[in-house]
Amino acid sequence: MLHLEHFSPAVFESWRTDADAWLVPLVQESAARFQTLGIQAVANDWLLRQDWKRALAYRLFHDLLSEAAPRRRILEIGGGLSAVSELLARKHDYTLVELATHETEDNYRKLEAQLGRSFITLGDWSEARLDGSYDVLIANDLFPNVDQRLYAFMDWAWPHCREIRMTLTYYENTVWKVRRTTSNEFLTVCPWGLREMRVFLDHLVAQHPQACPNYDARQLVYQDYEKVLFTNRRNVMYFRVTKV
Ligand SMILES: C[S@@+](CC[C@H](N)C(=O)[O-])C[C@H]1O[C@@H](n2cnc3c(N)ncnc32)[C@H](O)[C@@H]1O
Repeated sequence: MLHLEHFSPAVFESWRTDADAWLVPLVQESAARFQTLGIQAVANDWLLRQDWKRALAYRLFHDLLSEAAPRRRILEIGGGLSAVSELLARKHDYTLVELATHETEDNYRKLEAQLGRSFITLGDWSEARLDGSYDVLIANDLFPNVDQRLYAFMDWAWPHCREIRMTLTYYENTVWKVRRTTSNEFLTVCPWGLREMRVFLDHLVAQHPQACPNYDARQLVYQDYEKVLFTNRRNVMYFRVTKV
């Protein structure tokens, strides 16, 4: 089944209280532990400072981290370092694939040493070899604009998991001036917007009709929430597909 939820201010308000009650103490405890261990954890700092990040993390992870949740085989792509990655690694058979763009490798290795097991592959997800099948595969705040290879990602991930959860971030009326690191050339880039999201979802439904018998197309909207919910023009869609 394909489940989509447009993250509007009203949705944020409906999740916010529960999210903060659950996550604020956990993020604070991890922040203190990370400081003692000398671990820089940028994603944890975001969870401390950004209430909308906590609400989305609640939606993505809370059921997996409740006391009653069974142990699962989970793969996360681009999860960074945070209370959530720490808790997932403690509770589940959890693997993290990370390009480590915000922190250096030693920060990831220090967390592994603290937890007493090796569960992090540093590198690009497209070069990671998937080993067997996962119950849940997660990508939070990675596609389709930090990494635009969402089609390739779905083809790579689909045969190896029962469920995929993502937050998809898209924009309208936005242009990025970026620099190609190899040639130093400036590129003018339009991030994925509503149209690209719609084409992607139509493709997914056509490719996997049994898993996506219908979806709530009313969720596929764009509103400018700059200074209302976010500091930029992003919109976020909660995405979850479960194989039938
Ligand atoms: C915007 S951050 C989101 C971090 C975390 N999931 C969160 O929501 O706070 C994107 C993360 O994806 C990682 N990343 C970017 N490209 C990647 C790739 N090709 N393979 C694996 N990780 C990647 C970055 O290093 C970064 O930690």
